[in-house]
Amino acid sequence: MNTSLSADQRAELVLKAMTQDEKFRLIRTDFGEARDGKPMPVGALDSAGYMPAIPRLGLPALQETDAGLGVARPDLSGKGATALPSGLATAASFDPQLAFAGGAMIGAEARRKGFNILLAGGVDLQRDPRNGRNFEYAGEDPLLAGTIVGHAVQGIQSQHIVATIKHYALNALETGRQTLSSQLDPKAARESDLLAFEIAIGIGHPGAVMCAYNRVNGVYACENDWLLNQVLKHDWAYPGFVMSDWGAVHSAGKAAMAGLDQESAGEFFDATVYFDKPLRAAVASGEVPQARIDDMVRRILRSLFAEGVMDHPSQPAPLDAVADAAVAQRAEEAGAVLLRNEHDLLPLAPTLTSVAVIGGHADRGVLTGGGSSAVMPIAGNAVPGLAPPDWPGPPYYQPSAPLAAINRRVQGKAQFTDGRDIAAAVQLAAHSDVAVVFVEQWAAESFDLPDMTLPNHQDALVAAVAKANPHTIVVLENNGPVHMPWLGQVGAVLEAWYPGAAGGEAIARLLFGEVAPSGRLPFSWPRDESQLPRPQIPGAGMAAIGLPPQGQPADSVDYNIEGADVGYRWFQRRGIEPLFPFGHGLTYTHFGYDKLQAQWKDGRLIVAFDVSNRGKRAGVDVPQLYVTLPANGQTRRLAGWNRISLKAGETRHVEVTADARILASYDSAPHTWQRAAGRYQVQLGHSAAAFEGSAMIDLPAGECSVSTCSTPP
Ligand code: GLC
Repeated sequence: MNTSLSADQRAELVLKAMTQDEKFRLIRTDFGEARDGKPMPVGALDSAGYMPAIPRLGLPALQETDAGLGVARPDLSGKGATALPSGLATAASFDPQLAFAGGAMIGAEARRKGFNILLAGGVDLQRDPRNGRNFEYAGEDPLLAGTIVGHAVQGIQSQHIVATIKHYALNALETGRQTLSSQLDPKAARESDLLAFEIAIGIGHPGAVMCAYNRVNGVYACENDWLLNQVLKHDWAYPGFVMSDWGAVHSAGKAAMAGLDQESAGEFFDATVYFDKPLRAAVASGEVPQARIDDMVRRILRSLFAEGVMDHPSQPAPLDAVADAAVAQRAEEAGAVLLRNEHDLLPLAPTLTSVAVIGGHADRGVLTGGGSSAVMPIAGNAVPGLAPPDWPGPPYYQPSAPLAAINRRVQGKAQFTDGRDIAAAVQLAAHSDVAVVFVEQWAAESFDLPDMTLPNHQDALVAAVAKANPHTIVVLENNGPVHMPWLGQVGAVLEAWYPGAAGGEAIARLLFGEVAPSGRLPFSWPRDESQLPRPQIPGAGMAAIGLPPQGQPADSVDYNIEGADVGYRWFQRRGIEPLFPFGHGLTYTHFGYDKLQAQWKDGRLIVAFDVSNRGKRAGVDVPQLYVTLPANGQTRRLAGWNRISLKAGETRHVEVTADARILASYDSAPHTWQRAAGRYQVQLGHSAAAFEGSAMIDLPAGECSVSTCSTPP
């Protein structure tokens, strides 16, 4: 307990004092809930993971809970927590400080509920718009996703809670996730999915990494020596510990030697508790040296010391629900994306006398994604009893009703109809100044959506309402890109994601211009599935919620089709145009860029330019820096950005430093990033498809390893 010593030194001292049984206790956690007739372990907090304290050593119990959007407990009635909006909303803000604030808020709530490990930090790249867990992650670009999640991890750990970057790696689909093999060339993986993890770990220094269910190139992630030992622990010099996902362990000695440090809830989810008797036998036989067991324990202890778990034990305390809801509201306000706004239909004037509010349970609340990340609202589920009743459902609604929030702003009256009766919705819309239609797409862990079509005849509803009233606004509460066949018929579309604990208030403030939308899409929005590298997901859908499964799940998924060219790079390579490009987002003013200058200074590419607010209202812009490497066939990459707030008419000089790894290719031989000498194209983008200003610049050859690559965020 000598705080003048380093985390490594302190871990070493405890390790030396431990018995073999205590070591074997530490390298596995138990499921922290009651299940299958077995009671919850004594001392657990009805959560995902638990390991009893070891008082002799001064080791507290390990109390693990989900996850990235707040303290999640699907069945903890009445004692909920504050839900952040989708991870996609925070990513769409392009604001690392906002990500930090969200992480700090959920970290503080976890701490106040007695937890010391938050299983939060989902950073898997979005390779498919139908992946059931897109809402938990941060989109398709490795620099954006890594930067945003890295800062969220920083925020969580600022509360002396261990964060857990996950799901390592290439867990980009839910269908068949327990066996599916993600096939991707190692070099392409380094320059895409693994780069997101590398950046996030370099910024956030998470105490834990969670290895994924799936296989990577045929080898389970939690026994994958390349992923765990070579990339994570050797190349990236990661000092923390690797925990498994819940049911992701398939061996004892092989997994331990491949770099797994802790088995999670194996007594329920694995074929056996590998990290007990089978691993003890592997040590006795010499298959696993004692030194490996000691290293597993050392890594866990080091993270507990490094993140302050030992020195600042979590103390149960009431939540600061009002302040925490304000953090969630700010994230939603900064991350909502205005996709369309014809004839400046938005912002709405408060002088409106009648507003039709239709669908999406907008009279009660806003939608939440399903599965282990679902946060039970403190006031309880605003719309209980929806299908599917069992995990990953039921769907939760955060009790922040858009209808009430809109009614607080109009001088007249906002009236609601639930949208199931299209004729009634048409009637109400026809007799209202404007119609706001809330459409929703519930998604969840454990299954993928079979297609991009909105469920429950919502397309027909929107089309009918738009026909009845040209001043129709659609608000999307969804998991990722969806078909919008009615897009040309509606006046405005606001992408509100899963809006979080104060979503209704945030949406109303955005619609009435009390805050201007400033989000930019963290992914490309395909026109339809034919534009995707894989138009079909075999076996997608979940019968339990009426989604038609599409055949048998596949044994593997070939990500080599696009390789490192994920998202906007795929569209550029194929010369096809998505419906909306990565980085797209409108606001209530417009911006221009000029005087672009690119310079190579002190080994960094620095791009300077002026941003002007050329409209009549204040607003926030996100100028994006894209770079194309000199080799032929290269596609442009996001190399940096700035989020800047400007008053009407204001101009500001801005500088953006490109991340060194984005200018380089990964070279497996020396395990470094190699920048080729040559002429690089620099483009300033309003999105990945709309540029204002470009330059060519000759850069010298160079290389950087992990330690020298990472430019300050
Ligand atoms: C899961 C999820 C993981 C979660 C864990 C504990 O199945 O994949 O994200 O943290 O179980 O609930």
